[in-house]
Amino acid sequence: MATLKLINVTKQFGKKVLAVNDLSLEVHDGEFLVLLGPSGCGKTTAMRMVAGLEEVTEGAILIDDVDVTDLPPRKRNISMIFQNYAVWPHMTVFENIAYALRLKKMDKQTIEKTVNEVVDMTKIGELLERYPSQLSGGQQQRVAVARAIAVKPKVFLMDEPLSNLDAKLRGTMRTELKAIHNRTEATTVFVTHDQSEAMSMADRIVIMRDGEIVQIGSTDDVYDRSTNIFVAGFIGTPPTNFIDAELISENGDLHLTNPHFDLVIDQEKASALKEYGKRKVVIGVRPEDVLLVDEAQALFSESCLVSEPQGSHQVVAIEFDDSILKFVAPSQPKVEAGDTVNMAFNTEQLHFFDPDTEGRI
Ligand SMILES: Nc1ncnc2c1ncn2[C@@H]1O[C@H](COP(=O)(O)OP(=O)(O)OP(=O)(O)O)[C@@H](O)[C@H]1O
Ligand SMILES: [Mg+2]
Repeated sequence: MATLKLINVTKQFGKKVLAVNDLSLEVHDGEFLVLLGPSGCGKTTAMRMVAGLEEVTEGAILIDDVDVTDLPPRKRNISMIFQNYAVWPHMTVFENIAYALRLKKMDKQTIEKTVNEVVDMTKIGELLERYPSQLSGGQQQRVAVARAIAVKPKVFLMDEPLSNLDAKLRGTMRTELKAIHNRTEATTVFVTHDQSEAMSMADRIVIMRDGEIVQIGSTDDVYDRSTNIFVAGFIGTPPTNFIDAELISENGDLHLTNPHFDLVIDQEKASALKEYGKRKVVIGVRPEDVLLVDEAQALFSESCLVSEPQGSHQVVAIEFDDSILKFVAPSQPKVEAGDTVNMAFNTEQLHFFDPDTEGRI
């Protein structure tokens, strides 16, 4: 068990590519931290620096407050799992797991006991004599996980370990990995670009963009209090709807207006927005915060462009200004393309952003 600290870590490839820019981050003892961000934002580079597979251009990496920035990988006591499993093809499952334990000069009995423990946890006890070519992708990934936890590392790094698996297996492995973490309590950094995977697994999520951290927080923090338009648009499916609107004071009330609607804002929110002082805002509305209502309560009405039934609910899309607004509605009554839909907002859950800085107001 350990803590991991990155202090002002920067990675520059050649002159042009700034892959990671001044990254500072602390992973708590036993924490399951998820690094989330779009392709190319520097997640793998950050992980490789922690593992010692990539040199740090500037900054420091500390494990249990010991500076490991210049230590070779094998001296860092870290296990890393990659997307492509990287199990050794010429060794059986047992050998794959036992190899690193032998290097640690563990005696035969302890090795057998440890292997049994980890294959039990990863449910591959029946496969010990097989070679990787005789295993499915999901089984190979389990071998990689078993091998990584067997050495009881201080820090466990996983770089998109589930992305080669089909959707159903991904879901199962997600649950199992989290359960294994709950049992081993190894300090873990898990990399993904899949926001739903991140939200379902993380103690805390670190959202990255262009080599920098945009927001760190729990799933609720990043979902309910997204720090800017990028985060609000990246987290959640369907994503947040963004609507351009204006703030207008009239007879002591603050109105939020748009060609489609005119909404009086409640006092508490209004005073915060008055401080903001600008006229133009972008409002962010989560798909579950657009409500289907009776005509009499409608804030606005539009015709349905497409409806996507999902079994437990339906996703309704309408054309709105130059974009498409999507929201979730109960599966019944069914909304069909061309139907008039009457909508209102859950006004307590509206998010306001500055159109210039894109930051949360
Ligand atoms: N060895 C390298 N030499 C030059 N540029 C590199 C090298 N490795 C990565 N990069 C660049 O650094 C940036 C970050 O890459 P990185 O692989 O860390 O992204 P990522 O967030 O892991 O993306 P993905 O989700 O696609 O795996 C990218 O612009 C990439 O092209
Ligand atoms: Mg990557």
